[in-house]
Amino acid sequence: MSSGQDDRVADVAAGTGRDDDSILGLGPAAPAHETGIVLNVHDVERIAARVLTPGASAYYDGGAWDESTLRDNVAAFERWRFRPRVLVDVADRDLSVEVLGRRWPTPFGTSPLALQRLACPDGELAAARACAARGATFTLSTLASSTIEEVAEVGGPRWFQLYMTPDTDWTMSLVRRAEAAGYEALVMTVDAAPLGRRERDHRVGLRLPEGIRYVNILKRPPGVRPSGVPDDEGPQIYAKEFLKEALTPADLARLVRESRLPVIVKGVLRGDDADAVVEAGAAGVWVSNHGGRQLDRAVAAVDALPDVVAAVRGRVPVLLDSGIRRGMDALTALALGANAVFIGRPLLWGLAWDGERGAGAVLDMLRDEFDLAMAISGNARASAVDPSVVVHADLAHMARRIR
Ligand code: FNR
Ligand code: LAC
Repeated sequence: MSSGQDDRVADVAAGTGRDDDSILGLGPAAPAHETGIVLNVHDVERIAARVLTPGASAYYDGGAWDESTLRDNVAAFERWRFRPRVLVDVADRDLSVEVLGRRWPTPFGTSPLALQRLACPDGELAAARACAARGATFTLSTLASSTIEEVAEVGGPRWFQLYMTPDTDWTMSLVRRAEAAGYEALVMTVDAAPLGRRERDHRVGLRLPEGIRYVNILKRPPGVRPSGVPDDEGPQIYAKEFLKEALTPADLARLVRESRLPVIVKGVLRGDDADAVVEAGAAGVWVSNHGGRQLDRAVAAVDALPDVVAAVRGRVPVLLDSGIRRGMDALTALALGANAVFIGRPLLWGLAWDGERGAGAVLDMLRDEFDLAMAISGNARASAVDPSVVVHADLAHMARRIR
């Protein structure tokens, strides 16, 4: 169906690596001849590791404590196996899915990721442009290095991820800005109060380079006491001061009541929690362990998915991130009941590699892989992928009986 990947490979072989090394926040960029042929997200990850500063690399790639959940997010996808159907006419494929009343061209959106200007000069703007060009929903973080309004100017479908602050009026001022700027949903992240301990950040003593700041929350409204924390602090320290630590069901209920936008709750790993947030008015449940950055040894996101899907009972969409590295991962997640999946670190690696083009290439690679995996597993329509498409590797030998 799509030949994007072939074009991309030719493109890359012809040399699209960065060659400017003067950009704030970046180490020496990898010369094109050193990047080799870039076929997949793993290749892009390797390039990013070479071009990012040690601080940015630690922050982007690090996980909590021993990073066992970080690794398991990816490994867990590989433990689910496909049961391909044959003799299915898949010549005409439809990759689209529906999320909150909007038709998405593919099941991929992008996760909220703080400080994207550490990857390339335009940061969130470059990522949002890559998304907009493909009709993919871009989620802007509260801790972004570009403003809510700047990103809105890019156009394209966008959601705003909300970190609640200790001051309700301040939190609501962010909500009002997102509403005014045409964001279509709020993503309330509930698994990061407080932030997990990422030892890589502590080792490098991450500080923000000049010109890169948490621009959406720099100005405190009157009445909010000034912070003693310098505004170039890394998120580990900055967030301690800024994030509200005691989140309760009342915070969610209030947000649902007071905002015009649907509220999606991000960071759910249990069916009982999923049921509770739907009861409290959530318009979507986002299964995530924050990319292994919060509670190390938390269950892999894809392994938590079936429990959440069962508890939600189709009342609201179920979304997922944490470990999406191949198009096949989206097929697995859809088979297990997710409505859409979100790209996290691979977007940052793409930005580090080649700004908007790099981010776009990552989106295209994942779409093309998903498309091909759909075809050769005998699935023509993304919205019709059903649970019989996968079996857990431990049970693969009894697939017939658990059909
Ligand atoms: C994140 N994540 C995140 N989540 C969130 O709700 N608000 C945020 O500001 C951030 N910031 C952030 C920064 C960086 C550098 C990373 C890697 C992650 C978590 C993110 O939305 C998502 O859940 C994970 O990135 C998913 O894991 P993978 O697939 O990236 O490994
Ligand atoms: C992180 C926060 C900011 O994971 O969500 O770094």
